[in-house]
Amino acid sequence: MPERKTYIVEHLDPELGQWSELEYAAIAAETQRAGNTFMLSSLPSGFEVPARLTAIPAFRAERRGVEEMYGGEGGGRDRVCLLDPQAERDLSPDDKGVFDVFLFGGILGDDPPRDRTSELRKKGFKGRRLGPVQMTTDTAVRVTRMVIEEQFTLNKIPYTDFPDLKFNEHESTQMPFRYVKDDEGNPIMPEGMVDLIKKDADKSIDDLF
Ligand SMILES: C[S@@+](CC[C@H](N)C(=O)[O-])C[C@H]1O[C@@H](n2cnc3c(N)ncnc32)[C@H](O)[C@@H]1O
Repeated sequence: MPERKTYIVEHLDPELGQWSELEYAAIAAETQRAGNTFMLSSLPSGFEVPARLTAIPAFRAERRGVEEMYGGEGGGRDRVCLLDPQAERDLSPDDKGVFDVFLFGGILGDDPPRDRTSELRKKGFKGRRLGPVQMTTDTAVRVTRMVIEEQFTLNKIPYTDFPDLKFNEHESTQMPFRYVKDDEGNPIMPEGMVDLIKKDADKSIDDLF
C-alpha cells in the first residue's frame, strides 16, 4: 500500500465552469503541498485544461474515466474509495490502510442535492460518507485529506454549516453547504470564490431589471 495518495475528481459536468475551475485549483495547490497527486479524469477530447492547473506539478489531466483505469480485472478497484453522501459507512482514519485512491464526483453542489454521485456509485467502487451534510467538492477533498493524512476523526474537524457570506452592510448570501472553518471561524474557500459568488449574485439581481 503506497503512502502516497491519489485524489481523483471524475469530471461529470458537460463543461468546466468558473466555480469548478477555482475549486480544482484549490485542490491542486493543497495536494501539491501535501506531496500527493490530484487527477481530473474523464476529460472529453479537445478539453482545454486551464493553465493555472497544468502549472501545478501534482496535477494530472486524464482522458480515461476511473472505470477504465481501475475497473478491469486486477485493475485495483478495491483500492479506490468513492466519497459518497449516501454510503453506509463514514470515512475513518483506519481507511488510510484500506485505500490509496479517493474518488469524488466532479459536480457542483445543488440544493436540494440531486444525487449525481450515483453515476459513480453504480460502477461498484466501495463508498464512504463524510457525514450527513453536503460539502463542496474542494471541501470534501480537504476533509478526506484531514482524515486520511492527518488522522482526524470526522467529528473532530472544525466545520461551519450554511455560512452567510457578507458582501457589505446590505448584501449577504447563505451558502447551502458544509465547510471547514479556519482559525478565525471563516469558511475555507478557494481563492477568488467569494468575488465570483458576489459577481454571480449581482448578475442575478441585474437580470431582474
Ligand atoms: C458538491 S458534491 C455533489 C453532491 C451532489 N449534490 C450530488 O448530486 O451527489 C461533489 C462531490 O463531493 C463529495 N461529497 C460532498 N459531500 C459529501 C458527503 N457528505 N459525504 C461524502 N462525499 C461527499 C462527493 O464525492 C460528491 O460527488
